Amino acid sequence: MDTIPAMRTRALALATSAVLLLQPVVAVPAAAHSDVLVIGHRGAAGYRPEHTVASYSLAAQMGADYIEPDLVSTKDGVLVARHENELSTSTDVAAHPEFAGRQTTKNIDGWDMTGWFTEDFTLAELKTLRARESQPELRPANTAYDGRYQILTFQEVISLAQRLSRQLGREIGIYPETKHPSYFASIGLPLEPALVRTLNVNGLNRRGAKVFVQSFESDNLKALKKQLRVPLIQLVWDPAQVTPDKLREIATYAYGIGPHVTMVINWTEDGSLGASTGLVRNAHRAGLAVHAYTFAVENQNLPTNYQNRFTAYLKAYYRAGIDGAFADNPDLAVAARR
Ligand code: G3P
Ligand code: CA
Repeated sequence: MDTIPAMRTRALALATSAVLLLQPVVAVPAAAHSDVLVIGHRGAAGYRPEHTVASYSLAAQMGADYIEPDLVSTKDGVLVARHENELSTSTDVAAHPEFAGRQTTKNIDGWDMTGWFTEDFTLAELKTLRARESQPELRPANTAYDGRYQILTFQEVISLAQRLSRQLGREIGIYPETKHPSYFASIGLPLEPALVRTLNVNGLNRRGAKVFVQSFESDNLKALKKQLRVPLIQLVWDPAQVTPDKLREIATYAYGIGPHVTMVINWTEDGSLGASTGLVRNAHRAGLAVHAYTFAVENQNLPTNYQNRFTAYLKAYYRAGIDGAFADNPDLAVAARR
């Protein structure tokens, strides 16, 4: 189970009434369309099972500026790229009889979840699993790649980005997200020390490194601010998180915000795309960049007035002034910049 859909539903409901007012602090100029960063969301999750070597590689080949690993921990404290610490949605763990006894129910960030959890597996055990498409009803073509790919460590994602950079002749950035950081700290497997250590050993904890670090939580970002020299992105899902005061506070530790798309442009009650909420303007006035999530081509992910018009939808957001787009279809997000 995932907490994000519930967050999105709430954001959708609240975004329609979001009107933000903020006085200038240090304004960020609006990005030209050509400058909008394209972040390969979980790689190129629209085309390949998420967080696999195939997904990340395709994203880079399609022109993404960054690839985005969500990070959780193994039992032995290794960061691995998975959207959830529960494994049954995105791997074949349920088909492994040797792990049947590990199925359990836990409360993760307020949600009861039944399944298999990364923190109950060593890295060596996780490596025996294979990834599969996490949304097979939405993306049946991607199931052709089920069973082909291992779970990647964060280090392997960095090494892959470096290899792809050499192959493509341009630097592929990384955009890691800490998933459930308070939960992992509570079970003695904090994500942040391994994150900092891995960036350090790869020479990526420095100004100018092509790295963003993101989190839905703020306490860990504030702590990371003291240890990292790369920009931080505060993910937000609720308009109440981006009041003028909150934006000013976020600007004390973060480079930018990562809002749900409905917080940037209203999705009206009938499901159509409405008017700008003013969030981009107000975030820029607070000195914050805006990297919105998540753009995906399927009509289920589009407003009613943009069905089958994904490029026009992307361009509406580019015109609204976003600085970055988390995209499941990075090829289309890159093309829409032109
Ligand atoms: O990190 C930005 C976006 O990816 C947040 O949503 O749930 O896909 O990690 P999620
Ligand atoms: Ca993410």
